[in-house]
Amino acid sequence: MERADGISGLVAQAGERLVGFVCWRMSAEEDEGLLAPQLCGSVVSRTVAYVLTLGVDQAWRRAGVASELLRRMKCLHCHGTSLLWLHVLDSNDTALRFYQRCGFAVARRESDFYLIGGRREDAYALCHFMNGGRPPLSCEWLLLAARRRFRALFWAKGAD
Ligand SMILES: CC(C)(COP(=O)(O)OP(=O)(O)OC[C@H]1O[C@@H](n2cnc3c(N)ncnc32)[C@H](O)[C@@H]1OP(=O)(O)O)[C@@H](O)C(=O)NCCC(=O)NCCS
Repeated sequence: MERADGISGLVAQAGERLVGFVCWRMSAEEDEGLLAPQLCGSVVSRTVAYVLTLGVDQAWRRAGVASELLRRMKCLHCHGTSLLWLHVLDSNDTALRFYQRCGFAVARRESDFYLIGGRREDAYALCHFMNGGRPPLSCEWLLLAARRRFRALFWAKGAD
């Protein structure tokens, strides 16, 4: 399934029954600071896939359904993608174990990312680099942070 706004999905079925699904959005990485900046002559794509949601019916868990959905998503739909990333509630140990097993690593912790039942909850941003994508080195990260700050100042002035 693919929509015009870049959102796609895959479902896992057992006969007529839906037992799992994954849904993601493709976009160009702009200012998240997760991918190393484009260097001269670099051919690494700036396309990233953000996993919006992944879930498996309780009765079908630990049977490899989610691993297979992610595998198919990567192999069939993410050829020109340098990074898969997503957020997970910091208390969701099962999902953290699952994603780490699938090659994702924690990139950062984000405070108050979710609003659940009126309460703010923290999240981890997890990244899985592929097709030559890599995280910024620390000096590149500093440059990105400076660029973001400069842009914010510029836009704030422009808005006056
Ligand atoms: C997280 C979730 C998608 C995993 O789905 P799944 O089909 O059970 O995962 P898999 O069977 O492919 O698991 C692959 C590996 O992940 C790890 N893992 C998965 N569930 C785990 C659990 N409950 N405890 C510990 N490790 C777990 C294991 O290493 C497992 O391999 P193993 O079974 O050979 O030990 C499923 O638990 C789920 O739907 N949870 C609720 C929704 C959710 O939290 N989604 C993620 C946030 S978007």
